[in-house]
Amino acid sequence: MSTGLHIDSGEFLYQQVVSMILRMSDKSTIRPGDKLPSLRSLSRSLKVSVPTVRQGYIELERLGVIESRPKSGYFLKAKLQQSDNMRKPELVTRPREVKKQILIEEVFDVIHQPGSIGLGLANPSSAYPSDKLLARIMRRVLANSGERALTYAPMEGFAALRRQLAARYLDRGIRVDPQDVLITNGGQESIAIALQCVAATGDVIAVESPTYFGVLELIESLGMKALEIPLCPAHGIAAADVRHAIEKHPVKALIMSSSVSNPLGSWQDPNELQQIAAILENSQIPLIEDDVYGELYFGERCGGLARTHTQREGVLTCSSFSKTAAPGYRIGWLLAGRFHDQAKKVKRALSCSSSLLNQWTLSEFIASGDYDRNLRRLRSVLKTNKQRAISLVQESFPRGTKISDPSGGGVLWVELPSGIDGYQLFKTAMQHEISIAPGDLFSPSAKYKNFVRISFGIPWSDRVEAGYRTLGTLCCALVSE
Ligand SMILES: Cc1ncc(COP(=O)(O)O)c(C=O)c1O
Repeated sequence: MSTGLHIDSGEFLYQQVVSMILRMSDKSTIRPGDKLPSLRSLSRSLKVSVPTVRQGYIELERLGVIESRPKSGYFLKAKLQQSDNMRKPELVTRPREVKKQILIEEVFDVIHQPGSIGLGLANPSSAYPSDKLLARIMRRVLANSGERALTYAPMEGFAALRRQLAARYLDRGIRVDPQDVLITNGGQESIAIALQCVAATGDVIAVESPTYFGVLELIESLGMKALEIPLCPAHGIAAADVRHAIEKHPVKALIMSSSVSNPLGSWQDPNELQQIAAILENSQIPLIEDDVYGELYFGERCGGLARTHTQREGVLTCSSFSKTAAPGYRIGWLLAGRFHDQAKKVKRALSCSSSLLNQWTLSEFIASGDYDRNLRRLRSVLKTNKQRAISLVQESFPRGTKISDPSGGGVLWVELPSGIDGYQLFKTAMQHEISIAPGDLFSPSAKYKNFVRISFGIPWSDRVEAGYRTLGTLCCALVSE
């Protein structure tokens, strides 16, 4: 057995043991029924402690991958029946008015109820929280800078933070000047500003389907129309579908995820992204890329950005610290390209500026190196939680349920057997103090009535596992009704 564990990889050592055994199982290096190495011998060959290997084996048992047999050791189990793959939704034929605000309001009123198991919220940073580090840094900023940290921030944002954000894009292969960065109140304000720069009431905005409901909420409140472009669970949006959409309809802009989408967790194919950027650039249609999940990937590296592939600065990139550090800080940013001056005007009119203390704290968080250290841990925890959540849904939900296999983020997109209403499951689950998000939130049409979004980006616990099992039982009861 190779000694392939890396102390500095950011992945917990026990998690690396888990990943190694899963890889060996995938490649059939070990087969169902095979005995795994003893704790002691694996700890020797991997040069890690026995408790580390034990923790890895316990995790593999929780995931249903291995079983321990008294006095015999650990054995690889037969693979769980993999649920059917989700299919790409049908192409939609016309733009629609959006009417989702009432449903969004209703769902969010109850999702925030204290005491419930919060599987309805997408707050992945809570799976590995940075609150203590942030609190310490914020106290230090206040102690050192006092009143200076509590005044209005410059409208475009705290200079140090804008510099740091610009520098981080070098790792993703693009040059961004600090002056190109406009700090916003979260990703939501960033998308709101971007939309107002490129479109007006009555315009048609192409969106991915399913899409983050906050985008629909904005389109509705700005009186625009949404045209759905289907998301393929494995590859994201197809360039051919974008071409088709703009040939048939007067599309004013496209909003899409740069790499990891919400709620599907699909991974945008870089070649398709490049083609989409080129098609839109040639047609002079702005592209708003939503990258709030960009750094929460489960693969080897961050996905690409559409702005890498354009010359004429027609891409507006939106991002935020909400998924990677803390949503309560409400700090996001926008790279508005050639719309930068217009974006500044909209920002000033909307909110004047964003919290200086929060920007300063996040800037110090990045400077200390803790932001990146935490992010590595967070990705590792989310990856483990994803496996746990998938196993629980496979175990507990009715036959015919299909589950996404997210490439990042903190949510599962679950297709219930046809005839089961996701909204009804949401209502019933709330009576058991479990929140989920009904699929109907994620499309302007009625496409996803039998879907729900369930979060795994939360601090994992026995109560959360019990919540998943209860959801499965409630769903089975709906089948037999
Ligand atoms: C895909 C996507 N974009 C944007 C946002 C908004 O981010 P923020 O909370 O920073 O406003 C969210 C939040 O859930 C999201 O999921």
